[in-house]
Amino acid sequence: MSLLRAVLFWFVVTFCEGAEKPHIVFIVADDLGWNDVGFRNPQMITPNLDRLAKAGVILNSSYVQPLCSPSRSCFMSGYFPYHTGLQDGVVRINAAKFLPANLTTIPQKLKQLGYDAHMVGKWHLGFCNWKYTPTERGFDSYLGFYSGDEEYFTHMTNDGKGALDFRFNKTAYKDANGTYSANVFGNRAVEIIENHDDSKPLYLYLPFQDVHGPLEVPPKYENMYKNIENRKRRIYCGMVSALDEAVGNITKALEEKGLMDNLLLVFTTDNGGPTFVAANNLPLRGAKNTLWEGGTKGTGFIYSKSLLKKTGYLNTGMMHAVDWYPTLVELAGGENTDPNMDGVSQYDMLINGGPSKRNEFVYNIYDEREAAAIRYGDLKLMQGSPGDHNGWAPLPHLGIDEDVYEADNQTFPPFMLYNITADPTEHFDLSSKYPDLLDMMKKRLENWKKSRVPAQNDSPVPASNPKYFGGVWSPGWC
Ligand SMILES: *[C@@H]1O[C@H](CO)[C@@H](O)[C@H](O)[C@H]1NC(C)=O
Ligand SMILES: *[C@@H]1O[C@H](CO)[C@@H](O)[C@H](O)[C@H]1NC(C)=O
Ligand SMILES: *[C@@H]1O[C@H](CO)[C@@H](O)[C@H](O)[C@H]1NC(C)=O
Ligand SMILES: *[C@@H]1O[C@H](CO)[C@@H](O)[C@H](O)[C@H]1NC(C)=O
Ligand SMILES: *[C@@H]1O[C@H](CO)[C@@H](O)[C@H](O)[C@H]1NC(C)=O
Ligand SMILES: *[C@@H]1O[C@H](CO)[C@@H](O)[C@H](O)[C@H]1NC(C)=O
Ligand SMILES: *[C@@H]1O[C@H](CO)[C@@H](O)[C@H](O)[C@H]1NC(C)=O
Repeated sequence: MSLLRAVLFWFVVTFCEGAEKPHIVFIVADDLGWNDVGFRNPQMITPNLDRLAKAGVILNSSYVQPLCSPSRSCFMSGYFPYHTGLQDGVVRINAAKFLPANLTTIPQKLKQLGYDAHMVGKWHLGFCNWKYTPTERGFDSYLGFYSGDEEYFTHMTNDGKGALDFRFNKTAYKDANGTYSANVFGNRAVEIIENHDDSKPLYLYLPFQDVHGPLEVPPKYENMYKNIENRKRRIYCGMVSALDEAVGNITKALEEKGLMDNLLLVFTTDNGGPTFVAANNLPLRGAKNTLWEGGTKGTGFIYSKSLLKKTGYLNTGMMHAVDWYPTLVELAGGENTDPNMDGVSQYDMLINGGPSKRNEFVYNIYDEREAAAIRYGDLKLMQGSPGDHNGWAPLPHLGIDEDVYEADNQTFPPFMLYNITADPTEHFDLSSKYPDLLDMMKKRLENWKKSRVPAQNDSPVPASNPKYFGGVWSPGWC
């Protein structure tokens, strides 16, 4: 009898638990600044994000990379970009750069654990060969664009070549011509949710195009900010609100389908806001594409109706974009078996409100120039130039329609040291005050550098030209 019971217990645990695995919806906002959400800045109209963030856990020390492709490399692989060759710049549309094929992506891993995996939105991890594209890297379906930026309504690049970069699975998709991408992506996400087979856990990866440039939004969202004089800022804020509305539609669909009862929703930006376009990272220093906190301390939160032991608070535990991979694997009941992975599971911190498993991380180690930053406890060491936007940028200082990437050309000592706990806005370089701490941090940086891999080749590949592919950006040139 007791043997029967044991067998029965084993049966229940083994076969019924699968159905109980939580659904995961992972939403990435593109180029969203630290201060560009309503739960931080009353100027912003983001009722859906605010509601979810306040009922969930606001992540106050969740770090990302300074740029799009490197952060996505972290989310997908659990590796720092200086270990995947993606540490310098982004994956340009005509460069044979990609997330290395031997890395097991998070959708591949979750599929092994029984999940259906779908992706909607921006890939930006390479497409020169089909083997690097979303549907060959773990996703059951894909609707979106492969490159880093394009027009929001035509889904064509605005680089002078004016070619389509939009796919449904592997097929060029022209039916969305004229429809704003937040609507296209929001509607597709809702469709995936509505059609989801309830017996399986769902992983939905949703990297939106908003609020990356070019600044484009349907007038009704721009008009929500009539009080803002600067046209660029007004459009940018409208884009944030369009994204917010899409998130609202998605959460409504999740509720209606009954998936919300057992689900973790993650919301994160991919990097700090481009203050030189129209974003706002205040009070943080710097912007997108810099090693300052304004480029790397990401806006983010998690929400769940049932999984979080503690909610409605600001979590100050240190985490990094590479941690999502092992965290989601643990949430899915799996185990991370890769000893080289940079990410650590923050399941306990996020789900139980426990301490962070991380006391240090690499902001980035560049290959193209002698520049890097690392964190160890309170301390942050920066080597070389942190980037081109080094101030506490007020709202757009440029003219109404100008879109100029203007460097502020500051020069810096070879090494700088900040106490981020005491000085989160990076006003006080302590490098000359604490030479011993500076030495200690320099040694730590040297140690991290031992494992760096060279950056991938960034040169333009003429064979990528869409004229060879019927006017559509397509794989087949590497
Ligand atoms: C992937 O390939 C690179 C280059 O050969 C190698 O250094 C790395 O260890 C491999 N990574 C994994 C996870 O297999
Ligand atoms: C994309 O692939 C998914 C999964 O195979 C399928 O359900 C869907 O119909 C496909 N969509 C298109 C437009 O090919
Ligand atoms: C989208 O529509 C615009 C305006 O009608 C047109 O110029 C463009 O060629 C269309 N794009 C595609 C890929 O069909
Ligand atoms: C949200 O849903 C409403 C109602 O279906 C729709 O009118 C609106 O366009 C959707 N918004 C987005 C951003 O997809
Ligand atoms: C920075 O240097 C570039 C190149 O020399 C120059 O064009 C630009 O005007 C400078 N920017 C500022 C703010 O001084
Ligand atoms: C950094 O700041 C924290 C908080 O003020 C303080 O406890 C710590 O001692 C400081 N570290 C150094 C090296 O000054
Ligand atoms: C949250 O982060 C901001 C920006 O770095 C910082 O000013 C604030 O003190 C942090 N809040 C807490 C409770 O640590």
